[in-house]
Amino acid sequence: MTDGYGNRVPIAPQQVDAPLTRTAVFLVLVVADAADAMSTVREVISGLDDLIKTAGFRDLSGRLSCTVGIGARVWDRLTRRAKPAELHPFREIVGPTHTAIATPGDLLFHIRADRADLCYELERLLLESLGTAVSTADEVSGFRYFDTRDLLGFVDGTANPVGPDLPASTLVGDEDPAYADGSYVVVQKYTHPLSMWQALTTEQQEAIMGRRKADNVELPDATSGQKSHKTLTTIVDDAGEHDILRDNMPFARPALGEYGTYFIGYTRHLWVLERMLERMFIGDPPGLHDRLLDFSTPQTGSTYFAPSAALLGALADEPDDEDGPDEPDDQDDPDERTDHDEAPDGPGADLS
Ligand code: HEM
Repeated sequence: MTDGYGNRVPIAPQQVDAPLTRTAVFLVLVVADAADAMSTVREVISGLDDLIKTAGFRDLSGRLSCTVGIGARVWDRLTRRAKPAELHPFREIVGPTHTAIATPGDLLFHIRADRADLCYELERLLLESLGTAVSTADEVSGFRYFDTRDLLGFVDGTANPVGPDLPASTLVGDEDPAYADGSYVVVQKYTHPLSMWQALTTEQQEAIMGRRKADNVELPDATSGQKSHKTLTTIVDDAGEHDILRDNMPFARPALGEYGTYFIGYTRHLWVLERMLERMFIGDPPGLHDRLLDFSTPQTGSTYFAPSAALLGALADEPDDEDGPDEPDDQDDPDERTDHDEAPDGPGADLS
């Protein structure tokens, strides 16, 4: 489909490479244990294309898009298929100083648009359709900040793959044919003690990031000792450099002192992103962690697989669940479950 200016717009779901937009919503949901919850979720996500059209067609130039990711805990029951080769719950990484925590999440909706009202409208329609089949684990509205900068003041996203490198580094290929054109997705919500960061000199901030702040030019990689964020997240092996696609978004509630970066990474190989996290939290060499973490605290962490649009649509053909609530997929494999796999409760958790 095209907008009024003849530009193609990402009205189909699961377009991992949808353009960077001005706003985004990151919605993390937990599927309820009720008998019909899986059927409801299956019906809603397999019809995601219609919901996106309903909201997005009202202003095609708003470039509404939505990607849904499915977590390991519900994958088998929801899709009635074996898990993608690398899919497992987010693995907590405990470093000497900082921990990448794992938190609940069965479904991730990454909603992007150039208009906040389009994001809102799609989110509203989704939640209305899902009803009591889900509860909310986390909901963040992000906004694009000047020059695509994060709230720490650095241009964020520069090293993302482009052209043919983009599908090559984000979409599963022949290595897992049943899941070709899908993508692993990892999200983490980070908050920043902004005044502490602002107390650093620009040179100190640049050394932590590995880029100059004003003009975004890369600094040389350190080969020993403390490495920058840019160097620690560069993964190279015999096959060359492995990229991921990031579409981080700032979020903030200044009156509450909340300043954050919502990290989202799409990757063809989950291990690549996990290696980045290990290098950040444990350090390379171990002990010399990413100094960005001294100013960025992860409040959440969860992993998903975003199936191709074709596979997502095909879920509509699966029969309804008739045999009542079944057991969690990972019950027979305690190693696959984390302490955070339980559905959250407390204020805001229940959408019904
Ligand atoms: C690079 C910010 C978390 C992976 C960068 C850059 C900035 C940045 C400013 C340099 C410009 C660019 O290439 O985009 C942040 C902030 C984070 C965060 C504010 C959270 C508070 C993460 C996490 C990962 C990650 C959790 C992966 C697990 C990368 C990669 C690069 C990068 C792969 C490009 C490295 C290269 O030059 O090849 N990040 N980042 N970032 N970051 Fe992050």
